[in-house]
Amino acid sequence: MQMMDDSNPYPEFNSLQIQERERIKAIRLNDLRQIQTLSAISLLPLAFVSFMLGYWMTGRFLKPINNLSDEIEKLSSEDLGKTIKVEVDDEVGNLIEKFNDLSIRLKDSFTAQEQFVQDASHELKTPLTIIQTNLDTVLDDQKATNAELRKSIENSLNGVKELRDLTKYLLDLSNHNKLSLEKTDINEILLQQVSALQGLAEKNNAEIKLVLSGKNFFAKVDRLAMSSAFYNIIENAIKYAKANPTIVNISLKKVQKKILVTIADNGVGIPVEYQAKIFERFYRIDKSRSKKNSGYGLGLAIAKKTVENHKGNLTLSSQPGDTRFIINLPAI
Ligand SMILES: Nc1ncnc2c1ncn2[C@@H]1O[C@H](COP(=O)(O)OP(=O)(O)O)[C@@H](O)[C@H]1O
Ligand SMILES: [Mg+2]
Repeated sequence: MQMMDDSNPYPEFNSLQIQERERIKAIRLNDLRQIQTLSAISLLPLAFVSFMLGYWMTGRFLKPINNLSDEIEKLSSEDLGKTIKVEVDDEVGNLIEKFNDLSIRLKDSFTAQEQFVQDASHELKTPLTIIQTNLDTVLDDQKATNAELRKSIENSLNGVKELRDLTKYLLDLSNHNKLSLEKTDINEILLQQVSALQGLAEKNNAEIKLVLSGKNFFAKVDRLAMSSAFYNIIENAIKYAKANPTIVNISLKKVQKKILVTIADNGVGIPVEYQAKIFERFYRIDKSRSKKNSGYGLGLAIAKKTVENHKGNLTLSSQPGDTRFIINLPAI
């Protein structure tokens, strides 16, 4: 009877055969390990090279984005307007170009803002100085006659009036006053402004000719804001045309769904180089602010903004003897 060996998992083999199999297995295992070590050693430089290549390529691709991100981080009010060189013609290049545009636009807007604050402060200083000097005189001059005191107070009041006008202009410019729109006949507000300016026209040897439209021309407007826009343009024609006599022709017509109001004068005209500038805040062609023609250079800036706030536009064409301001408003 054959004895069963419990430790032998292969009862059909004898122990010598088993030992031989184990030995061969060990040799194969060893060979496999050697192959693994060898492949690891030879693959290592390959892995390193591909890692470096990947790293370099990613770096190359990300460099312009990193530059852009650095510049955005550095961007402050001091270096606005700074641009980055566009070296690539792809999405990243496109992004850099957009950044450059934005940087320039921000700079322009900051410069305009600073200029506005400077100009506004300068204009506010003049009436304040008048008020202070006159009130100082009232206080200091013990021997001043009643008439002299009265004159000083009158001058101070004129300064206060100037301050009030200027503040109103500044508020209009900053859009502080919300538009309160109502259905309005444009003929009617033009008629009102013309009659309000008759006195000034007479003083300036000017004649206003208003050709009203037979039909009612209705638009949705803020009466107050639109009235001052028309008032300023007509007043400008009377004050600055300097023709002898000045003729101001006002007419209105409807073209499709638009009401076109033309305010034309036969005056000296506005040279081409000033035609855009006169719509800027505080811009006056004649810088000296004479008593007769005093103004802050804000009227047209406000008029343009008002018309645009009504979804219309204000344009100018001018040559000597023929200056036309055209206001275009959506009709209802
Ligand atoms: N019809 C016009 N003819 C000649 N110059 C004009 C006329 N309208 C406006 N201007 C010029 O435009 C400038 C700006 O006008 P405006 O903004 O109304 O400011 P202001 O009347 O306070 O000077 C005026 O100072 C004047 O030099
Ligand atoms: Mg004006």
